[in-house]
Amino acid sequence: MPHSVFIIMASVSAVPASQASAPSLKVSANDCSSNGTRECISSFKAADVVIELAPTHKPKPDSTDLVFGTVFTDHMLTVEWTSTGGWQRPHICPLHNLSIHPACSALHYAVQLFEGMKAYRGADNVVRLFRPMLNMKRMLKSAERACLPSFDAAELLECIRKLVEVDKEWTPHSDSASLYIRPTFLGTEPSLGVKRPSRALLYVILSPVSSYFSTGAKPVSLWADTKYIRAWKGGTGDCKMGGNYGASIYAQHEAVNFGCQQVLWLYGEDHQITEAGTMNVFLYWINENGEEELATPPLDGVILPGVTRQSILELTRKWGVFKVSERYLTMADLCRALKENRVKEMFGSGTACVVCPLGQVLYRGQNLHIPCLGDCPPLASRLLKELSDIQYGRTPSDWICLV
Ligand SMILES: Cc1ncc(COP(=O)(O)O)c(C=O)c1O
Repeated sequence: MPHSVFIIMASVSAVPASQASAPSLKVSANDCSSNGTRECISSFKAADVVIELAPTHKPKPDSTDLVFGTVFTDHMLTVEWTSTGGWQRPHICPLHNLSIHPACSALHYAVQLFEGMKAYRGADNVVRLFRPMLNMKRMLKSAERACLPSFDAAELLECIRKLVEVDKEWTPHSDSASLYIRPTFLGTEPSLGVKRPSRALLYVILSPVSSYFSTGAKPVSLWADTKYIRAWKGGTGDCKMGGNYGASIYAQHEAVNFGCQQVLWLYGEDHQITEAGTMNVFLYWINENGEEELATPPLDGVILPGVTRQSILELTRKWGVFKVSERYLTMADLCRALKENRVKEMFGSGTACVVCPLGQVLYRGQNLHIPCLGDCPPLASRLLKELSDIQYGRTPSDWICLV
């Protein structure tokens, strides 16, 4: 695609145009590292962004029939890094194919990572991001694990905000659709050496998406088996690295062959419940001590620290109506609780669906039925409503960053 005619040297603020309740985007240098030991030596700056507008705009699709991740907006953000020159200026430019060397480590050794977040347009026509700094921090953690360079999370967020602003019209005018934001980070050194890359490319693309539940929230069926393992202690399952996902596709096909929609990922000799497909898992039950409890597995290295997971934990702890725990849950715990009628609901959580009721688990040849009063049971429904109300601006919240 030819690059455009129109170049603007943007002088953008490091803090988004915001209402009083919008959070500060500043993070300290120590926030650049999950353990606080690696310094954020240098970063690109949002104030240096160069904007090159596309000469023509593509027609925008009808937001009711979008297939996830197939339609992209007119622009993208790119920032290049080299070990000798550091970070270059960020560019917002027309969406284009990449030119990368065929030997680069992203292609050979999966030196790569990504993020997934959304912009939501409210009935007031305001476009909002939901807790985007959590995605930025998770991206920094993935970058550290992938040996990709660090950057200032607030600066990247401001670049993303600016990109969404440029392509704002692509944010669907509907509260059952949104603009999916896909930050991506690649090792691009033209070398086959298995080592820390000396060149990297960070880019962000945008894609309008329909609601996960365009046909209504329907409980999902899961195949639970230890034949395949998504993540393990010391591995990369707690980072959003592409290899985790590519390696899961085979198991997903096997789940479908068993008549299930997704995989319930188990771990360890005791068959711990970890995640469902690409969602965190919650069990709402009467626990073994007779307490009403909402439980999800702890962040022990095999769980992706979901933004939705964290939000559900914080919301329900604030409600204070039942016990909320990060604790291990095994298949034996689930089977016993089902037998004793102690399971109230089970659901997955993630940016794509917010919450997704889990209806059936195929385990050791047995179909376990999870109670699902109606298609979306009461707790899952309440969480879906409360979180969507925040995302679409119906409930004011300091979790929102305005575009
Ligand atoms: C493996 C995995 N677990 C959980 C999640 C949910 O995370 P979030 O709530 O940040 O979308 C995702 C989605 O990114 C995921 O890929």
